[in-house]
Amino acid sequence: MTEKAHDGGILTEGDAWRSRDLAVLWHPCTQMREHPDVLPLLTIARGEGAWLVDHDGKRTLDAISSWWTNLHGHAEPRIAEAIARQARTLEHVLLAGVSHAPAVELAERLLAIAPRQQGREPLTRVFYADNGSSGVEVALKMAFHWFRNRGDEPRRTKFVALENGYHGETIGALSVGDIPLYRRTYAPLLMDCLFAPSPDAYAARDGQSAAGRAEDAADDLARLFDAHPGEICALILEPLVQCAGGMRMYDPAYLRRARELCDVHGAFLIADEIAVGFGRTGTMFAVEQAGVMPDLLCLSKGLTGGFLPLAAVLATQAIFDGFLDASRERAFLHSHSYTGNPLACAAALASLDIFASDGVLERNAITATTMARLAAPIAGVRHVADVRQTGTIVAFELARDGNRATPFAPGQRIGLRTYRAALDRGVLLRPLGDIVYWMPPYCIDEGQLALLAAATAAAIEEATQ
Ligand SMILES: Cc1ncc(COP(=O)(O)O)c(C=O)c1O
Repeated sequence: MTEKAHDGGILTEGDAWRSRDLAVLWHPCTQMREHPDVLPLLTIARGEGAWLVDHDGKRTLDAISSWWTNLHGHAEPRIAEAIARQARTLEHVLLAGVSHAPAVELAERLLAIAPRQQGREPLTRVFYADNGSSGVEVALKMAFHWFRNRGDEPRRTKFVALENGYHGETIGALSVGDIPLYRRTYAPLLMDCLFAPSPDAYAARDGQSAAGRAEDAADDLARLFDAHPGEICALILEPLVQCAGGMRMYDPAYLRRARELCDVHGAFLIADEIAVGFGRTGTMFAVEQAGVMPDLLCLSKGLTGGFLPLAAVLATQAIFDGFLDASRERAFLHSHSYTGNPLACAAALASLDIFASDGVLERNAITATTMARLAAPIAGVRHVADVRQTGTIVAFELARDGNRATPFAPGQRIGLRTYRAALDRGVLLRPLGDIVYWMPPYCIDEGQLALLAAATAAAIEEATQ
């Protein structure tokens, strides 16, 4: 549908939706004043595999899986059908005092694939929430409450998190996050947490290996634990990749040391795999690469294949048992209305079926190799300071003349310029500051990856001219 604009130009259907949107919506993570002149507003009519199709039929490759949610492609028919079937049967019911098959089956299947560690009791319980931040709140509150219930260590009230980490936007999750842009304004509202240096390999000293950097950071973590004996109830971290912090990647050795330190100091380890879980790093869960398991595992985003909001927090039996008591106050009374929503659970079950039927992890290993091959030449593009990869996540760090000591001035908005230049080439590459990255749906094919690589190189060149 098209019509004439006041200036005589053609108003497209997309233009009409844009203007209706900008009259009523307040978009997330957006300075609304920048719409639409500085920041274009895409209006998406439908999704198809790795493609997003706008109201005027223009196709854009979703290189970031719509904030890392989508796994098997947009509008994946098997997941769509599972949701439709479930919707015709039972759309929702409260989960307190009530059970339903999708919640039970999903819990059983998540526990069956959960990370394990020799000599440790496995994860045996699943608590549902309805988005990533809520899942993090659940894990933090569970860890804290467990020690309250035990009652013999009243000083165990502190959380340790990693510098440059991100765990969501609600007040508790923001408190254990360390990204100034999101946190600074709300600092007076936040809990007082302890932050340990990030094991980020990009921050390694000249000549230092990623493993060396991880060991240094683990030594810092050890000192932090030593300085707060009996005060720390849990360490929370994003295993292997600090995603919102700029796809900063680190060596699995850090996770092994973190696990040991938590054990020595009697603290819980919370693995936030909301972004990296479900195969992004090459294994189903990132902690598997270190051979460790956490006491609490937070999952969301890809859990439903990217179709519906749902979070699951997996806990050990020891944590669960710590809440069994005659007193209601000792129970974990946390709840959300849509906890364990049947439609979301049905989507998650369908997504897990696809992992098995399509050999997703095996196919991803091939995709990761293709990504590495296509990313390698981009290291030679002027102003690219680093190209790094874990599984099917690839990041390009931009700095003046490729020198990490001379970042671009924030006012230059190199990331935003790259984003716009990539959109002009049919690719959605929403950067993190001056870091451009690929985290595509797993269904992306070689031709689409080649388009992505060409568009990335050209967009960086154009943006940094
Ligand atoms: C590691 C991690 N934890 C938690 C969250 C918060 O999830 P949500 O946006 O669903 O609240 C995110 C979101 O990006 C994340 O990357």
